[in-house]
Amino acid sequence: MSYKILIIDDDTSLRRVLEYNLQEEGYEVIAAADGGEGLACFDEQQPDLVITDLKMPGVSGFQVLKIIREKAPGLPVMVITAFGAVETAVEAMKLGAYDYITKPFNRDALRLTVRKALEMRGLSEENRRLREELTDRAEFRNIIGVSRAMEQVFAIVRKVADTDATVLITGESGTGKELVAKAIHSLSSRRAAPFVAINCAAIPRDLLESELFGHVRGAFTGAVRDKPGKFQLAEGGTIFLDEVGDLPVELQPKLLRVLQEREIEPVGGAAARKLDVRVVAATNSVMTEACATGRFREDLYYRLAVIEVALPPLRARSEDIPLLVKHFAGRFGAPAVAFAPEALAALQGYAWPGNVRELENTVERLMIMRNGNLITREELPAKIGSETLVRRGRVVNLPPEGYPLEQLEREVVIEALERCGWNQAAAARFLRIPRHTIIYRMEKYSIDHQERKK
Ligand SMILES: Nc1ncnc2c1ncn2[C@@H]1O[C@H](COP(=O)(O)OP(=O)(O)OP(=O)(O)O)[C@@H](O)[C@H]1O
Ligand SMILES: [Mg+2]
Repeated sequence: MSYKILIIDDDTSLRRVLEYNLQEEGYEVIAAADGGEGLACFDEQQPDLVITDLKMPGVSGFQVLKIIREKAPGLPVMVITAFGAVETAVEAMKLGAYDYITKPFNRDALRLTVRKALEMRGLSEENRRLREELTDRAEFRNIIGVSRAMEQVFAIVRKVADTDATVLITGESGTGKELVAKAIHSLSSRRAAPFVAINCAAIPRDLLESELFGHVRGAFTGAVRDKPGKFQLAEGGTIFLDEVGDLPVELQPKLLRVLQEREIEPVGGAAARKLDVRVVAATNSVMTEACATGRFREDLYYRLAVIEVALPPLRARSEDIPLLVKHFAGRFGAPAVAFAPEALAALQGYAWPGNVRELENTVERLMIMRNGNLITREELPAKIGSETLVRRGRVVNLPPEGYPLEQLEREVVIEALERCGWNQAAAARFLRIPRHTIIYRMEKYSIDHQERKK
């Protein structure tokens, strides 16, 4: 399928050059000579990408940008700025421009930026379509992420949600396990029935059995009446066993039995009772390790992990950070706040040991402490703002026989691009080099998107 690109520029020769270059790449190109004409073309032609000059007589590029952002929020708009006019570019990015190209422009840079923008477009379209299919189930929409890792998570969640399969959600602390568990419930046909969560690590082990399965009157001192357990309270719905890796060993056979027989035995009760409850569990411990050391029964692990949803740590999907930051800024009442490129780069370079929760808390604090509507790098907590702390441990482990520096450089560039979702501008910021340098390196080492598949 050929993509349609709309170019808006009052400079005839520049327009022609752009048109020529992009047509050579196989795109369908529509050109307009000013903002007014551009907007008319936009409505008529529904392009996949808009490239607009900023300074034009009549309707300015900024206005074009604003109007298109409103009409089609997911559509990438690239702006053309004069070489050296960084503030204008920043201004445009703040207004939601996807990227900018400087004139006179470099053919290869143009080609790569456009390709990247269209790829993003494909991705967010797909995202939007899939989410629309899921109508307005809030829990699912609140899980933010465009990285491939999160796309995979969405795909599994979508597939398993409306089944009765037991799901084990794994991931470091703060990666969104509870959010995903709720999403699974809310996307299932059990959504009208209760979602009952219980944290297996937070309840004293003596009480845990009765909390889970209930007890009958007289089961132990103080059991003055029958009490239903969480499983019973979740009847018809979903029970969420959080921190299941910490379930005491002596309770594990009981849980196994519930999963196998679909019935529970209250503490002190003679008769087992049938139950219709879907089980979703979560853990941040490495279960295979827990099984190997005997802390967790292997048979129970396999019963729980019929489907496993592994949530990636935030540092492995730094391309999601800008979106998350925006999402949280909006949540904390400051949707208009923007982040300076260096601030965003620092946020993307930080290791986030506390994952999304730590990012959420950081943004909340920033929204309270901020001086204005643009968050600068200086405003970030010291540990995030400073370069040195980003270095965790040894960055590379060189083999004893030596290693070619050029090869290493190539790998570093690829890794940076991957972390930034192949957005060159972001990858360049990440590596603290100008954008033309990364483009040059990509050409030099013949790096292109094919790398992804290797
Ligand atoms: N992808 C995401 N999009 C938006 N918000 C997220 C995302 N992931 C996590 N959060 C938010 O981060 C916080 C932590 O998420 P959650 O409680 O689900 O993590 P968890 O994996 O259960 O953590 P823990 O292991 O510490 O219990 C919550 O406020 C949640 O809303
Ligand atoms: Mg949790």
